[in-house]
Amino acid sequence: MEAAGVVMVGAGIAGLTAALAAAETDDVCVLAGGGPEASSSSRAQGGLAAAVGEGDDPHLHAEDTLRAGAGLCDAERVRQLAAAAPSVVEWLAQLGVPFDRDPSGRLALGREGGHARARIVHAGGDATGRFITEALWQAALRHPRIEIRQEHCVGIARDASGRAVGAWTWDGARHRLVGARRAVGLATGGVGALFGRTSNPPSAVGAGVALAYHAGATLANLEFVQFHPTLWLGRDGDAMLVSEALRGAGAVLVTELGAPLFADPADNLRTRDVIALAIARAEADGHRVFLDATKVPEVAARFPSIAARLRRAGLDLASQPIPVTPGAHFLMGGIEADLAGRTSVPGLFALGETACTGVHGANRLASNSLLECVVMGRRFSEAVGHEPCARTHTAEDPEWLLRPEQDEAVLSELAPLMWSSVGIVRDAPGLRAALAELEQMAERYPGSGAVLAASLIARSALWRRESRGSHVRRDAPAPNPAYARPSRIGKAHSAFT
Ligand code: SIN
Repeated sequence: MEAAGVVMVGAGIAGLTAALAAAETDDVCVLAGGGPEASSSSRAQGGLAAAVGEGDDPHLHAEDTLRAGAGLCDAERVRQLAAAAPSVVEWLAQLGVPFDRDPSGRLALGREGGHARARIVHAGGDATGRFITEALWQAALRHPRIEIRQEHCVGIARDASGRAVGAWTWDGARHRLVGARRAVGLATGGVGALFGRTSNPPSAVGAGVALAYHAGATLANLEFVQFHPTLWLGRDGDAMLVSEALRGAGAVLVTELGAPLFADPADNLRTRDVIALAIARAEADGHRVFLDATKVPEVAARFPSIAARLRRAGLDLASQPIPVTPGAHFLMGGIEADLAGRTSVPGLFALGETACTGVHGANRLASNSLLECVVMGRRFSEAVGHEPCARTHTAEDPEWLLRPEQDEAVLSELAPLMWSSVGIVRDAPGLRAALAELEQMAERYPGSGAVLAASLIARSALWRRESRGSHVRRDAPAPNPAYARPSRIGKAHSAFT
């Protein structure tokens, strides 16, 4: 059996940061399953939130994060996240990330929804995720103790005590076991592809959630899926994020009649749960919603990637409103973990969007996700240093392995169901009907991580009989103090705790 000190599953910003940090002491095998452009991270446009502007303070950043999280954040971890942000920006700049700057050399700061200050650092105007991922990828490629492989992880190997001791991989032809002397990290992104209409890549099918569930880990808050208010849908069905930073720069939402969606223009910068729901309601009333950026100075130069993609489709961001609609964007829940990624399973870590650390609560504040990825990745190495290092571990035979080759067929059935019954607005009858269909799908597609992740999301959404943040229940439209706590589920405990 081959082995590395650390096996890291996923090569987005969380996985690569963690790999680089761990490689200071250990050899690291990264199971990338694709190039640097394959991750959700590389699609992030707006930027990374950090209180680095004049008059700003990490306390204010933390306050905004807590407010957006609608009573479900872990306040201490939020404070730690916001406090770490300025040093994260410094570290990334030293690594070579070319953050945009004003003519005097100071970081150019954007605004986004829910932030009381301009505190979004960005690169390439609207390509922040791509620039950060690329810098990390290059650093990982150069690192003598990191090996990047284009293999998929299909199972977590555990020893007789239940400790994670490696990863089962699949290269399209055969299974292999890669042992981990110290730790296995899951940094596999989110679940957006389960909903069909998404800003995420097709690989975002909840693989981490499924792998961790079968490894016995506790999962939390899976009902909280953030729907980004503004995706543009191409004719080919392709969806592109239209960054919230555009609204931060002055763009507003209007209907097909040119009427403002919000009477008060300031409401265009409310948090994503509020805006996505307002658009969904306008659509349900028969309207179409557009983003009007025609009054944003130099808009095409400031948002070059978005403008170029629209131009290829015959649309001009500078002179015409762009049709937009909400789509699945980010999973606030996930594998329960602390800020260093420790889960309930010894030796198993979860990082970035795959993890639920409590910093996003019921609704993530814009541009806090890339920040969380880097903060967790850097803390991971310290935690891993305390893990026992075994020369050899004996892995038990796997009880269950993912079958990623089924995903395409599964998603064509699954996504319409998830969008209609587990989407922006939910209710108990719709969720129960979805669960019954998902049960049948699980029989047709044994080994489907997508069906398992979808079922866990639907079960969590059914359990939470209230509306809070991104979780909206038609049949329970207000927050209920009895549910002001995370939902927790795992293989070992079939009921929510
Ligand atoms: C955006 O640019 O609107 C997305 C950034 C984020 O998800 O925080």
